[in-house]
Amino acid sequence: MPKIRIAPSILSADFKRINGDIGQVEKYADLIHVDVMDGKFVPPTTVDSDFVRTIRTKLPLDVHLMVQEPSEGYIQGFIDAGASSITVHAEACTDPRRQLGYIKGKGINAGISIKPKTPLSAILPCLDTVDMVLIMTVEPGWGGQKFMEDTMPKVRELRKLKPNLDIEVDGGIYPDTAPLAKKAGANVFVAGTAIFKEKDRVMAIKRLRESVS
Ligand code: DX5
Ligand code: ZN
Repeated sequence: MPKIRIAPSILSADFKRINGDIGQVEKYADLIHVDVMDGKFVPPTTVDSDFVRTIRTKLPLDVHLMVQEPSEGYIQGFIDAGASSITVHAEACTDPRRQLGYIKGKGINAGISIKPKTPLSAILPCLDTVDMVLIMTVEPGWGGQKFMEDTMPKVRELRKLKPNLDIEVDGGIYPDTAPLAKKAGANVFVAGTAIFKEKDRVMAIKRLRESVS
């Protein structure tokens, strides 16, 4: 299985002091997960590439686009802003291989994501192109929701198909749910509430890491 990585999601951080919030957990994290919502694919709107450009961190920026049909120009904005990986949703793209090909062509990592009710079959044609698959463990759009354990069979099946692929889980990840995802085969763990809504964020991220070590 590929290396275990912890990705704090800044969705639950304070956008007004984003670099301070990231600074608190950076030493204990592997990636910084950035949730981009467009108000179309999901109801809320969050950050744009101008905001991402203001993020200062040594860690790779893992950009999760919850965006309907992202154009090349739109994707390029996030590449210019410093993204190390960009993940698009299978449900949001007519042919996700176009977006994935563009991202790969720019020399950064490409990911494909599916919502809880979308079957794994939706991304099979992309599996040879992508560096990462993000299996949503809640409905995308909001932090603080409950982990959906019934998404775990997809993680298990995917791990069987792709022993070396990065499999990311996102939504409701806490020290009590992360081990279930790890057992199914996930190796990248996104956590917003479980880290940024805790008083002691360092303790929270350490506890999360211990739960999957
Ligand atoms: C939800 C986002 C998540 C979100 C997870 O659509 O993709 O990254 O921040 O939040 P928690 O960890 O609070 O479930
Ligand atoms: Zn996310």
